[in-house]
Amino acid sequence: MPHIARFVIDPEFSVGDVDPRLYGTFVEHMGRCVYTGIHDPGHPTADAAGFRGDVADLVRELGTGMVRYPGGNFVSGYHWEDGVGPLADRPRRLDLAWRSIESNQVGTNEFLTWAKELGLDTMMAVNLGTRGIDAARALVEYCNHPGGTAWSDLRIKHGVREPHDVKLWCLGNEMDGPWQTGHKTATEYGRLAAEAGKAMRQVDPSIELVACGSSFEKMPTFGTWEREVLEQTYDEIDYLSLHAYYEELEGDRTSFLASGAGMDRYIRSVVSTADHVRAVRRSKKQIKLSFDEWNVWYAARFVGERNLETAETPRLIEDTYSVTDAVVVGSLLITLLRNADRVAMACLAQLVNVIAPIRTEPGGASWRQTTFHPFAQAARFARGRVLHSVVTGPRIDTAQYGDVSALDTVVTYDEEADTYTVLAVNRGLHEPLLLQAALRGAAAGHRVEEHLVLCDPDPDAVNTEAHPERVVPRRATGAQITAEGNLQAELPPVSWNVIRLVPNTPCPD
Ligand code: AHR
Repeated sequence: MPHIARFVIDPEFSVGDVDPRLYGTFVEHMGRCVYTGIHDPGHPTADAAGFRGDVADLVRELGTGMVRYPGGNFVSGYHWEDGVGPLADRPRRLDLAWRSIESNQVGTNEFLTWAKELGLDTMMAVNLGTRGIDAARALVEYCNHPGGTAWSDLRIKHGVREPHDVKLWCLGNEMDGPWQTGHKTATEYGRLAAEAGKAMRQVDPSIELVACGSSFEKMPTFGTWEREVLEQTYDEIDYLSLHAYYEELEGDRTSFLASGAGMDRYIRSVVSTADHVRAVRRSKKQIKLSFDEWNVWYAARFVGERNLETAETPRLIEDTYSVTDAVVVGSLLITLLRNADRVAMACLAQLVNVIAPIRTEPGGASWRQTTFHPFAQAARFARGRVLHSVVTGPRIDTAQYGDVSALDTVVTYDEEADTYTVLAVNRGLHEPLLLQAALRGAAAGHRVEEHLVLCDPDPDAVNTEAHPERVVPRRATGAQITAEGNLQAELPPVSWNVIRLVPNTPCPD
């Protein structure tokens, strides 16, 4: 008899709405994300602008609603002016972040047009590393001003009559990191971000601004960086960023499967810091979080940017993801959703090839990594509002995060469709887990529409170009509503599960 993990599903226990921007992704000029990733003029499916049709189809299927661009570390040395205007006139530049040759054949207009055609919202980052206020406000003017000024008229001259109307802007990237070109102290960055943000909003008062939080929780300045940056920028910005990458270290899979607990602690710490600054300022404004880089990344296997040979379109950090990685990605999605009251946006980093759910070969195939599936399923089904659920049941002791629940879960309720989606991960390595959820209030009277599961007898199984469908979600049997009105489903060890509940239709007479 498997161990039982219990919770309650009640539509009245609302945490907050699911902001579609929680299903964001990230396109950086890095490795093969742009070139031979989304853009590959020689590819048989390429459109007139050189963007791959097969990748566009996979991006649609992934269900991402927003994309961050153009970096990442890349943005801290980027001259956006290099990437606009006639293609033949664009300079080839040395990108210091990834020791790459940047051809600038894709720039602001190409990217924003591609995103618009796919119906994607965009989040643009400005360079606060080597550049500053002037370049940032000029870019906002180029993108968003209707016309009649030098920068907006230049956009029109470049063939884009209507403004791009980009609403979300990141004030730099990971400015706390010594690896960042133009790295700054919190005081230096805070002042610059506040003034750049002010000027950008003077150009377009409708934009929203994201200030850089720490690059990850283990940064020595974590906490003090957030406090000081917020003290300087509180009145100018709307969101504070978080970045985090997780990996299995020294074979400690138990801790790796509990990465969501680490992400949860990180989010709560930043929320506390933001609310501390708010309290000191007696401010009515609440800062929300933008988790604009997150994923599994085997950083320990990366040689490091300082050891790279300079190259054009190199294969950088093209991690191949396993079933276990997909389960962890699912668990991280659950964590983001559970914190929907404060995390407004999140970007899976990155979209194609570079630590990505989609992989491609130049001029050739494209395929879904294992991690594609939990993202696509959550983006498709976990909509509406997030419900509060408190789990009781088996616990797992982890070296990195202490004692965690074996069941990681979140429930969303889509009021319009009157459907519930239960996302659930069994973190146990060997034992199945019995999920038992009491359906309360209006949730009673629903039935199980389907139980989809991603797991494998080999938790290290991967998808490859040769075997692109080795790992796919499957329909599970046995999930049911018991006579007592409980949802009951068995979750295999190391598994990602989606259980959908729809209203019981009355039997025809
Ligand atoms: O996503 C890869 C890199 O990770 C980004 O360029 C940087 O922001 C982060 O450190």
